Amino acid sequence: MGIAEPGTRADLDSLVNLATGELDRRIFSDEEIFELEMTHIFGRAWLFLCHETQIPKRGDFFEAPMGRDNVLVVRQKDKSIKALLNTCTHRGNAVCRAEEGNVRNFMCTYHGWTFGLDGELVGVPGLKDFYHDDLDKTKYPLRQVAQLDSYKGFVFATMDPQAPPLLDFLGRTGRIGIDLLAERGDMECRPGIQKFTLNCNWKFAVDNSFDYYHPQITHISAQAVGMIPSAEATDSGGARTDEGNSLGVQRLPTDLDTLVALGEYGHAISGPSVEAMKRTLPPEMHELVTWRTDPGPLAALGRVGARFAGHPQVFPTAWFTMDAQLSLRVPRSAGVTEVWWFSFADRNQTPEEQRAQLDRQIHSFGPAGFLEQEDGENWSQSTMQAGPGARRSIPQQLKMGLGRGKIIHEDGVARIEAAVNEHAQLWTYLSWLEWIKGTDWDDLRDSTTPGDSI
Ligand code: FES
Ligand SMILES: [Fe+2]
Repeated sequence: MGIAEPGTRADLDSLVNLATGELDRRIFSDEEIFELEMTHIFGRAWLFLCHETQIPKRGDFFEAPMGRDNVLVVRQKDKSIKALLNTCTHRGNAVCRAEEGNVRNFMCTYHGWTFGLDGELVGVPGLKDFYHDDLDKTKYPLRQVAQLDSYKGFVFATMDPQAPPLLDFLGRTGRIGIDLLAERGDMECRPGIQKFTLNCNWKFAVDNSFDYYHPQITHISAQAVGMIPSAEATDSGGARTDEGNSLGVQRLPTDLDTLVALGEYGHAISGPSVEAMKRTLPPEMHELVTWRTDPGPLAALGRVGARFAGHPQVFPTAWFTMDAQLSLRVPRSAGVTEVWWFSFADRNQTPEEQRAQLDRQIHSFGPAGFLEQEDGENWSQSTMQAGPGARRSIPQQLKMGLGRGKIIHEDGVARIEAAVNEHAQLWTYLSWLEWIKGTDWDDLRDSTTPGDSI
């Protein structure tokens, strides 16, 4: 069932209700809404493409998704970076089938048109015999993205020439999110991007990164095998049924220990404070949060940013973990999402330290990740329950802490301090709504600038 009057602002406004903390479930299954996302979010926003260390040498390239477009991020002869649409200007075929590699040029496998690293058309088979030298090659270069820039090695691009500069788009909250990875050391992206497909709507994966309500149940297996701390280990209490039966699993403290930052355009960070995380983690894992006490990171993160233990989300789809990973959620249809994992290492760490971290990374997230297998099942099952009965009359609930999110503005950050809550999820959907309405850039910034409460 499509939305009643596609594209009308009033109709779309009914999809997210801040007063009740309810969402219309059609936003997770409706292909018409998915098209609005492709056009107004993925066709306009700055999107993460890759890390500069993935393409260090001339001719290195990495293919990245931008909505329905695919771009080749290419290191140029002068060391600069360009992002070229991977579609031949002859008749549209992909000019490159590899996901990454090193080339001298890109030759289309259909009729052989050949393009240089900068996208210029340098070769046309039969130019003399078939085209009678009557084709101006300068008119048919591979197309480039509208804008490309990088922040601390993280390369972003947008298809919208009107988009604000990357730094303005990221704002303080988005930059802190990236800083929480970039400032850990001399970071390089490990070779091998892990990619897999889930039958879920991309927004389930996005909003789950802010969800600290689920670990105590969803990750009960991970706790049982000692992968993440349990209540027994941390003495932080356990989930209890209404009958008082303890499930004996992890629970974050219920005092003022969860930090939320809300940023323009929909960026957000939500997770425990560093102090709360240290209370929850066993001592041997404290390095996950204590690296930021060095002067360099402290200065970059600022006094508010330095208190965050996780989880940052750069709108729309880039999520940064506490253990130096970046997850990109790549929407393929309303019900299908690819999940890409970029894992990073600090060049200054010893090989043993790097190996230990890699072990943690691949066993937490990605296709072999314990936590993600548990999460992915929930996202897929939530997406699948989308028959007419469910989606017409059962709203999605984001009521936890509704109306209690007092926003404090400090050091350029709009933050909330509260017990486990759903403020960041609600912020994501409120911002998402502004994006899919096609709001112009100035109004979009205004309407996604945090006020005094949520
Ligand atoms: S489609 Fe690429 S050469 Fe014809
Ligand atoms: Fe999870």
